[in-house]
Amino acid sequence: MTTSPLAISRADGGAAPASTAPDATPLLDVRNVTLQYKTKAHLVTATYRVSFQVHRSDRFVLLGPSGCGKSTLLKAVGGYLTPTEGEMRLKERTITRPGPDRMMVFQEFDQLLPWKTVLQNVVFALHASGRLRGRAATDRACAYLDKVNLTKLADSYPHMLSGGMKQRVAIARGMAMEPDVLLMDEPFAALDALTRRKMQDELLRLWDDTHFTVLFVTHSIDEAIKIGNRILLLSPHPGQVKAELNSVADPADLAAATRLEQKIHRMLFSDRVEEEERVHE
Ligand SMILES: Nc1ncnc2c1ncn2[C@@H]1O[C@H](COP(=O)(O)OP(=O)(O)O)[C@@H](O)[C@H]1O
Ligand SMILES: [Mg+2]
Repeated sequence: MTTSPLAISRADGGAAPASTAPDATPLLDVRNVTLQYKTKAHLVTATYRVSFQVHRSDRFVLLGPSGCGKSTLLKAVGGYLTPTEGEMRLKERTITRPGPDRMMVFQEFDQLLPWKTVLQNVVFALHASGRLRGRAATDRACAYLDKVNLTKLADSYPHMLSGGMKQRVAIARGMAMEPDVLLMDEPFAALDALTRRKMQDELLRLWDDTHFTVLFVTHSIDEAIKIGNRILLLSPHPGQVKAELNSVADPADLAAATRLEQKIHRMLFSDRVEEEERVHE
């Protein structure tokens, strides 16, 4: 499976030296980003001075507990939210708005247009963004539906599909746009355990095929270890970078995966101890 160019990862999952030469320009450069929501009554700081760099073909995972600002970070990379502090650059250009160079796949099963078929959903995204038209769009859509094994269901409507199949359509739609980075916000979290595992395997197979760049959000430690080659561990609310780790070189190496899982557990647990101590002060 994913034994290919993971030379950039260290087998022991040790704290990160940059996975690529430090002077290589990252595809996505997030520097000291603070993200806030202003509501009538409150100013909510979702993330505080978060920095990370994603390089081409990285499977970069944002891992942290619920509410630590993972979705907010992803939305900001998507161009839907402007940092109050810091900067986000994609290919050395500051992100200011959404664009087809960043496609998002969400957790929800209702992200497809219900009145369009599977094929039409993928084609529509290509048309609407101006990426491709006519025959070229159909051919591209068919090629990506084939990659996710949905050719037979191209003419079905979303309501006829299972949750896993709908997610595969959403992934095919995102990948068909051939974005610079695919943004995935807990895309498998609402699936049953078996389907979830199957989808994780499928995603890794797709990556073996095309080496796309993905920024993947999860709160599951084992999913992070399985999917990512690099893992950014975020502290609880407001999200700050706790550590940046390389994942295991070979996902089949269960001993290494267990060691890394324990290490991440310890890091999260040490946070909890600090919090409890603070409560008793
Ligand atoms: N639209 C919003 N308005 C105000 N606060 C929000 C909004 N969306 C998220 N938040 C808050 O920002 C913090 C981070 O949320 P989120 O990015 O969704 O976390 P995660 O995805 O890690 O669970 C949370 O405290 C959440 O309540
Ligand atoms: Mg979220």
